[in-house]
Amino acid sequence: MRRYHTGSDFRRAKSIAELAAMARRRLPHFAWEYLEGGAEEELTLKRNRQAFADIALLPKTLVPCGDINTRRSIFGRELPLPIAIGPTGYNGMLHRDADIHLARAATERGLPFTLSTVSTSSMEQVVAAVPDANFWLQLYCLKDPLIQQDMLQRASAVGCQTLLLTSDAVLLGNREWDRRNFARPRQLSLRNKFDVLRHPRWLHQALWPQGMPSLANIERYLPPEQRNASGGAHFMGAQMDMSLDWEYLARLRDRWPQRLLLKGVMHPGDAEKAVALGLDGIVVTNHGGRQLDGVPASIDCLPAIAAVAKGKLTLLLDSGIRRGTDILKACALGADAVLLGRATLYGVAVGGQAGAGHALDLLAEELRLALFLLGQPDLAALRAGFSPSCTVS
Ligand code: LAC
Repeated sequence: MRRYHTGSDFRRAKSIAELAAMARRRLPHFAWEYLEGGAEEELTLKRNRQAFADIALLPKTLVPCGDINTRRSIFGRELPLPIAIGPTGYNGMLHRDADIHLARAATERGLPFTLSTVSTSSMEQVVAAVPDANFWLQLYCLKDPLIQQDMLQRASAVGCQTLLLTSDAVLLGNREWDRRNFARPRQLSLRNKFDVLRHPRWLHQALWPQGMPSLANIERYLPPEQRNASGGAHFMGAQMDMSLDWEYLARLRDRWPQRLLLKGVMHPGDAEKAVALGLDGIVVTNHGGRQLDGVPASIDCLPAIAAVAKGKLTLLLDSGIRRGTDILKACALGADAVLLGRATLYGVAVGGQAGAGHALDLLAEELRLALFLLGQPDLAALRAGFSPSCTVS
């Protein structure tokens, strides 16, 4: 039976699971459910973890592993680890300025940070606060072409060179907890308002004194009286463009000369199309199990995608990364790097920048130790075997 440290000092957390347990205690229920929850029965959410568990590691013995190499070159930059922080929305519900804390934690460690369109700090605020960030931006396809164009211009103006278009969340998945927790978009039900009062530390770190954080990235497109959490949620609901298709992506490819990635790929045929379009990368993802429930784990989709796309564009993977061994498995199966969502959010929820940094350091240490114990000092030399359990060595 696993026992977790029950205090609130995140520095004592020995694993991402332990950070998650601390975050759960720190956050009011609605914020915890938003962070942790998946769609419907959470079949996919569970699969994301189970699929990693089902991959076995087969060590080689008597291999000197004094010099562990976890470096990766991603988009012409040498990263010390095959990790970037992925885009997640509404981070300010976990901690004031959470996007900036995450960006700083990543940048301190030489890793990229991706800001969500539905972030609670704007891209200008993040880049002003963390000027040396390896800054990536996630974009949704918005109906208003002027707003879409403005987002691209702002991204260029802040020096963003890497854009991730999300294709799997034009409509949000069926998350019953979200509908239960909010009486109206981003307006808490009475029960949740009482629950908030039972979490004074969180009130102080997240809500005080400004209240529910608004969507700072898109706020400027709203009339002044709607520049609040609820107005932002309404705006995004109305702006999501259901007609998003490959032609739109091809036009975006022409309009955005810097690096362009598609985030939302599970099918190898879609990976082939992304290659044909000349995209710089794809993110193999099921959106952390938050969209269509019942789809495979992202890691289970990776081998078939790597078979058609490896080496032709940068392959990123997210959903379910909680251990260094998960990163190792993803890389062995073809990922160039992984994106972290919840893992660093647990950290930011309990310790701001230092908490997010602690999550990154835990994963880095685990990855290095796992490579050592596997008898494979060089991450780049990892290979997947072909046993039924998809052994990695
Ligand atoms: C979500 C959206 C914001 O999963 O990506 O909640």
